[in-house]
Amino acid sequence: MLDARRRLNPPSALPRPPVTTRERTQIEAFLVLRRNPLELWGPAAYKRDILHGRFLGREQVMLNDPDAIRHVLVANHENYGRNIGTRRVLQPVLGNGLVLAEGAAWRHQRRTVAPALAPRTMPVLARHVVLATEEKEAELARAAGGRPVELLPELQHLALTIAGRSMFSLEMEEFGAGLRALLMRYARRFAQPGFLDLLLPASVRSPLDIGRAAFRAEWLRLIDRMIDARERQAERAPEGRPRDLFDLLSAARDPETGAGFNRAQLRDEVATLILAGHETTAATLFWACYAAARLPEHQERIAEEAAAADLSAGNAAAALKRLPFTRAHVDETLRLYPPAFLIVREALGPDTIGGRRIAPGTVVSVSPWVVHRHRRRWRNPDGFDPSRFLPGAPPPDRYAYIPFGTGPRVCVGAQFALTEATLVLARLLRAFRLEPFGSGAVLPRGFVTTQPDRPVRFLLTRRNH
Ligand code: HEM
Repeated sequence: MLDARRRLNPPSALPRPPVTTRERTQIEAFLVLRRNPLELWGPAAYKRDILHGRFLGREQVMLNDPDAIRHVLVANHENYGRNIGTRRVLQPVLGNGLVLAEGAAWRHQRRTVAPALAPRTMPVLARHVVLATEEKEAELARAAGGRPVELLPELQHLALTIAGRSMFSLEMEEFGAGLRALLMRYARRFAQPGFLDLLLPASVRSPLDIGRAAFRAEWLRLIDRMIDARERQAERAPEGRPRDLFDLLSAARDPETGAGFNRAQLRDEVATLILAGHETTAATLFWACYAAARLPEHQERIAEEAAAADLSAGNAAAALKRLPFTRAHVDETLRLYPPAFLIVREALGPDTIGGRRIAPGTVVSVSPWVVHRHRRRWRNPDGFDPSRFLPGAPPPDRYAYIPFGTGPRVCVGAQFALTEATLVLARLLRAFRLEPFGSGAVLPRGFVTTQPDRPVRFLLTRRNH
């Protein structure tokens, strides 16, 4: 194996949005929240452990302290539910699927879904990852031909194909373009909370909720067509062991009531897993490629490592342990560009955090974006330095590195996402040399996930390994 710990040039800082030192009015803060939430936090947020404030009449607490994060997301997690802003924005797309479910319904869904995404299923999932990436490599080779390529849509398409095939045995050609177009429309019009979304109680519809309801009807029709396609396939499939997550969901019975998932629940679960399963991984892959293009020495190291490993479909899962540098590059990408940049909860009952009383209704947030760049938790916090995550390096504090959240509601697809991102990155950089095309810094923007602030093109040159 190559020596993954070979020294690289000193870590370089990649561009980030400006950190304002100016006090903002509530209106200004609201406008920043809509333009780019990653610009919300001033220098104090990156230095202090707990921040308090009021926003639109609600008590707000932001936690950077590992003990406080553990308290809210692990020890006393039952006292903290999803807040109204998150619900309004996600419910039309995710319904009552695993991300938004609570209580007994959540436990049942989690128990059903988790085994299909557990580490022992990775060889099957890794196979899908490699086969789909091979196809994408061929497409990119044809599309590139000396012309710059906008990578984000390519990576979204790839991640969607992988999610559809690996979880639901669905080819996404028929649905992929329609699904992405609907999601883009939703993101542009409804995905950012409006003023009244944050002010009105949950029982009152906001003006944007009316558009969201119309969107939901259209979205459900699309998911229904996908389920119909999957069920037609199942009619032809032999009886026997469940083949994928869809079979597991269809066969699942609630341990208490014995009831199965009805059609509406199945729809929400399929939508949740397809969406949560591809949007975040595509964003991770985009930033991993962007960092590699900006840091050629890192890129060459990944390409070398990938060339020395057998990354064929049958061997992909086993090859992962031969990709420590590639994996460290992915881990560092998730530190500096966490796709889920903000985890928000609302206190259901009274509590005490860090000696301070928390009243019911308080909005409590933990921002992976801020925690991962916190001055007291990280050495050279803005420097892109994969060596932090190489084997043998001291592991980061468990509650200071949280790209997948933590506690009972930790991301159910974390293992899958890491497997996918590492394999796709290794395969792509083994096949192509990436160079940034065009000038100007690319800044991350919090827009549902952590996205580039503009379309970004790359020059792809085939490597003749
Ligand atoms: C790099 C990729 C990913 C990132 C950064 C990510 C991040 C997260 C985070 C931070 C949470 C916790 C949110 C909270 O506590 O409020 C979460 C939950 C979740 N994620 Fe992921 N995720 C990724 C990939 C995936 C994949 C591939 C899947 C599905 C295959 C998935 C499915 C889910 C689901 C269903 C939940 C809700 C779990 C629950 O509440 O029990 N995610 N994810």
